[in-house]
Amino acid sequence: MKPIKIALFASGTGSNAETIIRYFEHHSAVEIVFVLSNKSHAPIVEKAKSLGVSLIICNNQQVEDESYLVNLCKSQDIDYIILAGFLRKIPDTLIAFYPEKIINIHPSLLPKFGGAGMYGKFVHEAVIAAHEKETGISIHYVSEEFDSGRIIAQFSVPIQIDDTVEAIQEKVHQLEHQHFAPTIEREILDM
Ligand code: GAR
Repeated sequence: MKPIKIALFASGTGSNAETIIRYFEHHSAVEIVFVLSNKSHAPIVEKAKSLGVSLIICNNQQVEDESYLVNLCKSQDIDYIILAGFLRKIPDTLIAFYPEKIINIHPSLLPKFGGAGMYGKFVHEAVIAAHEKETGISIHYVSEEFDSGRIIAQFSVPIQIDDTVEAIQEKVHQLEHQHFAPTIEREILDM
């Protein structure tokens, strides 16, 4: 049977992308076809190379282009796109071509602390400023509006009174590394 083909989009450190690549490395039903990064010097670039995964570097103009990403994913026969710390808005043309086939991870319990400008440390700073008692992660489908597509799964973690942004980021990363890949697997294989 043909494996389900995944494209991973990432812009930064790529710790989630790396975890996903390792998780599916010898999987019988899922194949990571390529990693796409819009940042040529991001750590994910070296990680993808050392993990032996095909790498595509593009620029922000190509990301915004109506047809570049659609043509690329079509030409590689991609079934699902996973955003693992990809910090550009996905063009509507790609969302229309892949309805409920683009999955994002967001470092908060959506709908709290989502939307434009809410990414990485900015999310954790806002969580601390709001005196939240817990935070977490949301794994969700991508729709035309930032961080508002259907939620697939959420996982939470308590916040201690003296937690710094870095401490929260670490807790959130641990949740992400534990849950993102198995959640993708369950969702796309209908397990
Ligand atoms: C992750 O925490 C992810 O949730 C967040 O960027 C980080 C990337 O880390 N994504 C967003 O904020 C999207 N709005 P990584 O590069 O180490 O995987």
